[in-house]
Amino acid sequence: MKNRDRKIGCVVTGAAGFVGSHLAERLLSENYRVIGVDNFFSGRKENLTALWKHPDFSFHERSVTEAGLLGDLKAQYPDLECCFHLAAIVSVPYSVDHPETTMEVNCQAAVNLLGEADHLGFGAFVFAGSSAEYGGEQRLPLKEEYATEHTRHLSAYGRSKYLASREVAERRCGVALRCFNIYGPRQDPTSPYSGVISRFVALALQQQPLTIFGDGLQTRDFIYVSDVVEAYLRAASLCGKATGGGKNPYNIGMGKSTTILELAETINGLVENHAGLAICPERPGDIRFSEASVDAFHKVAGWEPRVSLLEGLRKTIAWARASQEASSQP
Ligand code: UD1
Repeated sequence: MKNRDRKIGCVVTGAAGFVGSHLAERLLSENYRVIGVDNFFSGRKENLTALWKHPDFSFHERSVTEAGLLGDLKAQYPDLECCFHLAAIVSVPYSVDHPETTMEVNCQAAVNLLGEADHLGFGAFVFAGSSAEYGGEQRLPLKEEYATEHTRHLSAYGRSKYLASREVAERRCGVALRCFNIYGPRQDPTSPYSGVISRFVALALQQQPLTIFGDGLQTRDFIYVSDVVEAYLRAASLCGKATGGGKNPYNIGMGKSTTILELAETINGLVENHAGLAICPERPGDIRFSEASVDAFHKVAGWEPRVSLLEGLRKTIAWARASQEASSQP
């Protein structure tokens, strides 16, 4: 996806979300036109603050379940050639309670958009898959080929992402990225299902104990949002090339795991929170260990994570501090 000789337009669905807003900002900084789409089901208007004033940014409050969405946008923006499809039902517990809606939004809408993108001759369709596609898989590190038709998915969320990723990977213009635990500025800490880092940082800044669910020895593979955004751009460049196939979908993670206890202690140290830890009951249905194998995407796209956990935590804490101070201003 080269943008040197003329402007290329990209649709970012889920542009008001945590990752989508970072991706939109990066694309604008690389001189792309960005058409943001979001229905604010979980996206937030505040995430668009830096985007509104950019002359190459347009926004459409629409749902990805609307038929003909990409065709309508292409009619308005003839330079559209690429779609980053990040909009989804992102809450796993919600997906358990609403499996049909989840399938419709996360899988059927993705497949429809993909078909439209293909029909319109788009050069790239990059899809936000998830580590949840591996379900209860125990072999580590998790390799792309471990997610199969026989995988025991733990939620409609995991199943819907798996089915959609598989369709995307089979299409000429498609690449699917299975992102592990993404963290960074703008991740919302307020829901009970918010990512652990956003919760721990918020608690630590309030000098409250960090809530450890279970023994804290469970592990996750945490990846900083700017590394994920870089992966999206590289994935778009791969689309349509022979190498876009192969092991597509691709894992996006650090390729390293960290225990929740280690994470909590590091955050308390960085914030100088002396309230310590609160040991709470284990979360039902929690996966015990998670770690991505990241060789495949490195091989085809030369991508590797650049932001260490320590550096990413420092940046996330600095952002959370600044937004806390801004919200306490009269
Ligand atoms: C993510 C989903 C989760 C889903 C799973 C399936 C998010 C935010 N969560 O969970 O809903 O079931 O993928 O793949 O996307 N933890 C604490 N204290 C806290 C918060 C979390 O100890 O205050 C622990 C959790 O028990 C878990 C780990 O931290 O073991 C990571 O939690 P989380 O950030 O929710 O991510 P996943 O468990 O990977």
